Amino acid sequence: MTALQTMDGRDAAYREENSLTSVVSYPQRCSLWGDGRYPGNCDGRLFKNLVLRYGAKVVADPMMGSGTTRDVVEGLNRHLGSDITFWGNDLRHGFNLLNEDLPGPFDFVWLHPPYWNIVRYNEGNPADLSNLDDYAKFRAALEVCVLRCACALITGGRLAVLIGDVRRRGQYTSIMRDVLALEEHIGELRSVVIKAQHNCRSDRKSYGKMEDLPIKHEYCLIFKKR
Ligand SMILES: C[S@@+](CC[C@H](N)C(=O)[O-])C[C@H]1O[C@@H](n2cnc3c(N)ncnc32)[C@H](O)[C@@H]1O
Repeated sequence: MTALQTMDGRDAAYREENSLTSVVSYPQRCSLWGDGRYPGNCDGRLFKNLVLRYGAKVVADPMMGSGTTRDVVEGLNRHLGSDITFWGNDLRHGFNLLNEDLPGPFDFVWLHPPYWNIVRYNEGNPADLSNLDDYAKFRAALEVCVLRCACALITGGRLAVLIGDVRRRGQYTSIMRDVLALEEHIGELRSVVIKAQHNCRSDRKSYGKMEDLPIKHEYCLIFKKR
């Protein structure tokens, strides 16, 4: 019997979703991975599906927050008998992606940075991207982080950047566009996944009088290194 044939309910969470497309929506967060109370945490299913789809064996997440990606890989290794090596870190554990290299090379890097200053992570720490209120400074710092991740990839390796756009006081700022603009320095853009956003703090706001549409999605931009 293969590992897949012997799966119980919990193991089934580690199966690859064959129906994965460029639109994903996970209304209920999967509680197996990371910490749902950590601000800005993400559901682990998109990451899991990408790791399985690309057959990634050496994986990194330099802004892992509550450890969602670490837990997914640990589970894949335990429940599917995979042998995936994972390196994860975060500013909250003392790793600063602005000036420290990843201990690569990796074949898959997942980057889930702050969406500008929407959620403050490490209060008062100037190295935290979420403390850069000036958008030009934030964008420059994000570029450094994205390019550092790209440098840590093998040729043919994948970089997935999960990012959302921001509207503040009526002004729309497309962080996604600024990451896409880095394509030629990273490699080739291969997929853009639209991920519906659920359970955001902004869900409690009333949008009755807004001229423009509330943002209810984020993007996962997937690049392949040349
Ligand atoms: C959107 S959160 C990641 C959440 C994570 N995916 C999860 O599910 O818990 C962004 C993370 O970036 C980290 N961060 C901000 N600036 C950083 C830097 N310069 N170097 C490393 N990590 C940084 C923050 O501490 C925060 O944990």
